Amino acid sequence: MNIKAHEICKTFGKRPILDGLTLEVPSGETVVIIGPSGSGKSTFLRCLNGLQSIDSGTIQVGDHKLEASNEKRFSPFSSEIRKVQGMIFQDFNLFPHMSVLGNVTEAPARVLKHNQADARALGFELLKKVGLESHANHYPSQLSGGQKQRVAIARALAMKPKVLLCDEVTSSLDPELKHEVLDVLEKLKSEGMTLLMVTHEIGFAKKAADKVVFLAEGKVVEEGPPQQILESPENSRIRTFISKLMS
Ligand SMILES: Nc1ncnc2c1ncn2[C@@H]1O[C@H](COP(=O)(O)OP(=O)(O)OP(=O)(O)O)[C@@H](O)[C@H]1O
Ligand SMILES: [Mg+2]
Repeated sequence: MNIKAHEICKTFGKRPILDGLTLEVPSGETVVIIGPSGSGKSTFLRCLNGLQSIDSGTIQVGDHKLEASNEKRFSPFSSEIRKVQGMIFQDFNLFPHMSVLGNVTEAPARVLKHNQADARALGFELLKKVGLESHANHYPSQLSGGQKQRVAIARALAMKPKVLLCDEVTSSLDPELKHEVLDVLEKLKSEGMTLLMVTHEIGFAKKAADKVVFLAEGKVVEEGPPQQILESPENSRIRTFISKLMS
């Protein structure tokens, strides 16, 4: 399923945060967004997922559409959009009082009305996919960061999304743990998932991204194939940004 965001504007108070942002993610592709802190990356993903309203512009995820700043249409849109689009955050957001299996099966049981046996079977299938079936009865406090993030991915997958939005999902993890999470995302990509990721993992972007987009001050400065943007961008600001990331 594809994502099309057209000329999205969003202000907080009087400050423009997204300033005519246009970005497309074709179905089955992986797009990586990079850019300085405060450039609007998280705000953009939150708008796409209906967690934040937009002032103007249009968002389309598959057939689900949002036209500009119509607050009345905002709510139904966001619940529809979240049926096809999952989001994973930097800080995992697991339910601390629920087991790993409980975290993964809560939404399918409650929202999709799966019975307990079906939800459990789906839960184990997804935990197997992220390599954590033996941890089904653990609680989040007993897991490493990488394991928590893999549970968060399994939990998002439980709703059978067609698109996943990932906001710096490895930035709080040690280098070895980053890889276990990035490997899971690469596997999802190979299975056809459409991925829009904010990440500064340049190695991953070079290997897995179909397109890299550099965002600054709420708009796209330059976009293109990873090699072009990460190794020979036209804009010198990107070159400086990437050399700082590498140092
Ligand atoms: N709910 C909010 N109310 C007011 N201002 C906000 C809100 N959310 C974000 N902002 C402001 O919008 C700007 C963009 O924030 P955002 O979190 O989207 O940046 P970012 O590119 O994700 O940065 P980082 O790389 O640090 O995660 C920041 O200046 C932030 O302070
Ligand atoms: Mg952010």
